[in-house]
Amino acid sequence: MEVTLSIIKADVGGFVGHSDVHPELRKCCVTHLDQAKKEGLIIDYAQGEVGDDIALIMTHTKGIENEEIHKFAWNTFTAMTEVARQYGQYGAGQDLLVDAFSGNLKGMGPGFAEMTIVERPSEPIIIFLADKTEPGAWNMPLYKMFADPFNTIGLVIDPSMHEGFRYEVLDLIGERQVIFETPEEIYDMLVLIGSPSRYVIKHIFRKGDNDEPVAVTSTQRLFLMAGRYVGKDDPVMAVRCQSGLPAVGEVLEPFAFPHAVAGWMRGSHHGPLMPVGIEDDTPTRFDGPPRVVALGFQLKDGMLIGPRDMFSDKSYDNARQQALDAADYLRRHGPFEPHRLPLEEMEYTTMPAVMKKLKDRFKAAD
Ligand code: F6R
Ligand code: MG
Ligand code: MG
Repeated sequence: MEVTLSIIKADVGGFVGHSDVHPELRKCCVTHLDQAKKEGLIIDYAQGEVGDDIALIMTHTKGIENEEIHKFAWNTFTAMTEVARQYGQYGAGQDLLVDAFSGNLKGMGPGFAEMTIVERPSEPIIIFLADKTEPGAWNMPLYKMFADPFNTIGLVIDPSMHEGFRYEVLDLIGERQVIFETPEEIYDMLVLIGSPSRYVIKHIFRKGDNDEPVAVTSTQRLFLMAGRYVGKDDPVMAVRCQSGLPAVGEVLEPFAFPHAVAGWMRGSHHGPLMPVGIEDDTPTRFDGPPRVVALGFQLKDGMLIGPRDMFSDKSYDNARQQALDAADYLRRHGPFEPHRLPLEEMEYTTMPAVMKKLKDRFKAAD
């Protein structure tokens, strides 16, 4: 059976500040999703969230970037924004950058990751949702899952994985994309994806296969759309697992290292990406540290059987402790790099104003 998985997310108001989602917004979201299922627009749904972001996780048969599905998501976020206003939630409607929906959600603010797949007899999928970071945060984990044998032993010992995978990498600034074959081209690819603020992995495919993705991420960068600081993009991704793909444990393994990502306070700091269970998905200290939840599903005839809260497991306790220690270490740098992002990354915040003010005071150096 061919089925499309659409994960569409937005921050339409935080409770309190940018830390969580108010239960009334959640209720409004589920009411809309339930209605869409009853009307047959979608096959099934799950409501996901992390920090101040809500994700509509939906299955349907309409394909990716479908107008009806995107319009439904837009209307749902608009309705939630009304509730957010009613309850005085912080930054109500913050990710809805335009006044009205037209065509699909590209350039409108909400992030989305979608893939159409032929459902296998058993289809385990992990959906990752992150808050207080940006799409490039997935680069290192995706590299490890599908290209690093120190993470994924299946690349070495499963004959069906031994040939490697194909990565599609997007240049967010140049608005172009390039395909890399791994393992042959990993060094070339790492030159780019090692700069996650610009180059992000959009899709991963099986090698020599059709265009059916095995992993997909959301890649919008709000500031590029809005031309000013409007928060980080709090990305999502979906990864298929098992039977010739990385096992569930290999897909989760990269997050045992809480790697440094850009985001955190005012979207302007590096901090550890802390894997958490859904009970702990509420960035608090210095509006962070950035965090990621993992929702596990078995897909069956398009039904989302789940979620299982994958990072609530004890085996991620050490990663959390490491993340907290790294947070302490980085915080002590205050406004200094490398805690604060480099100057080029501050172009959409205070930098231009400060440079304008200082313009006439710069003199030629001796
Ligand atoms: C980061 C984030 C927060 C805000 C910060 C200031 O993505 O959302 O850290 O940037 O709380 O928010 P404002 O400018 O709305 O007061
Ligand atoms: Mg917010
Ligand atoms: Mg957020």
